[in-house]
Amino acid sequence: AKTHYGEHAEKPFFPSLVEYITSSPSLAMVIEGEEAITTIRKLVGATNPLEADLGTIRGDFGMDTGRNIIHASDAPESAEREIALFFNEDEICDYKIVDNDLIYE
Ligand SMILES: Nc1ncnc2c1ncn2[C@@H]1O[C@H](COP(=O)(O)OP(=O)(O)O)[C@@H](O)[C@H]1O
Ligand SMILES: [Mg+2]
Repeated sequence: AKTHYGEHAEKPFFPSLVEYITSSPSLAMVIEGEEAITTIRKLVGATNPLEADLGTIRGDFGMDTGRNIIHASDAPESAEREIALFFNEDEICDYKIVDNDLIYE
């Protein structure tokens, strides 16, 4: 958790953030797709749940910035770094979803 949030190590909320994300089991996922970072961050919502749109995960399920439910990588480089923290290469499955041809040109 400390490595994952390493970029925030100097921030005052860092200890509480690490305590929060290690306070219960979490679910890690690798998601690939067209504009995956932008799209997933849109789905996740603004950092402050009170400012996050309804229908986003933080907007629907969060209340405080320091308890905002979900993390999402903010760039391909950070995604690569974060994925390597949680997964071995052979744990990442590359597969074709059945509606692939219906939704991708
Ligand atoms: N001012 C703050 N007070 C408490 N926690 C914060 C604050 N700013 C950020 N955080 C926590 O640190 C996480 C990482 O911050 P940041 O990378 O800026 O946001 P995001 O998760 O939207 O990319 C946030 O999701 C939030 O959980
Ligand atoms: Mg971030």
